[in-house]
Amino acid sequence: MRCIPRHVGVVMDGNGRWATRRGLARTEGHGAGEEALVDTAYGALAVGVRALTVYAFSTENWRRPVDEVRYLMNFNRGLLERRQHELHAEGVRITFSGRRDWRVPRSVLRRMDDAATLTKNNQVMTLNIAFNYGGRAEIVDAVKRLVEERVPASKIDEKAIRERLYHPELPDPDLVVRTSGEFRTSNFLLWEMAYSELVFTDVLWPDFRREDLYGAIEEYQQRERRFGGVDS
Ligand code: IPE
Ligand code: IPE
Ligand code: MG
Repeated sequence: MRCIPRHVGVVMDGNGRWATRRGLARTEGHGAGEEALVDTAYGALAVGVRALTVYAFSTENWRRPVDEVRYLMNFNRGLLERRQHELHAEGVRITFSGRRDWRVPRSVLRRMDDAATLTKNNQVMTLNIAFNYGGRAEIVDAVKRLVEERVPASKIDEKAIRERLYHPELPDPDLVVRTSGEFRTSNFLLWEMAYSELVFTDVLWPDFRREDLYGAIEEYQQRERRFGGVDS
């Protein structure tokens, strides 16, 4: 069997455009993204992906209109309420990457903690939700911890930083997919993506399904990963 990526990252983009094209409010696009997320997660589970990190809300998304931000906060809380039990039944461990700052409502943090606690011993797949996540913020937070722990400069190397990222137990993503035809990373997994294979698709996130994930995995399987070396 061809190699299945152990860890896949997904920038779930294009919800607003999906809605606008239908004459709907942008928030309807976010709502329609739930089915895409659930189908993608089950598709990943079915082919043996061990970790799926999905970008749900970036540290830059606070710049959006307050109503949209409020919708996204409530939506993500509702999504966990609606889906955590079925994901738990499938053996999915739910984790979060991002900052728990004052802007995230307490009720959302509580729901996140509940989902993480409920599923913490599951081992089939990790669904890591990047929420109030920024790749630069993650590196800053790792550096803060090094300083707080008084780690001397002579002991600071890549391993020391890596160990202080939000989820050091997850392998770096082998594959990162971005939907909606945008060719940028938008501050996703900066450190972890150093050697990821990138796949871009024009599909808007609410239309994305497991078949699209499998298409991206097939593209990944054609790639030759060198990690700076020469062909083996
Ligand atoms: C992605 O869809 C979802 C979030 C960023 C929360 P967008 O809302 O960015 O959709 P577009 O890019 O405006 O179409
Ligand atoms: C990236 O999408 C963030 C998420 C998918 C959560 P954005 O739509 O926020 O990114 P930009 O603004 O187009 O770079
Ligand atoms: Mg977008």
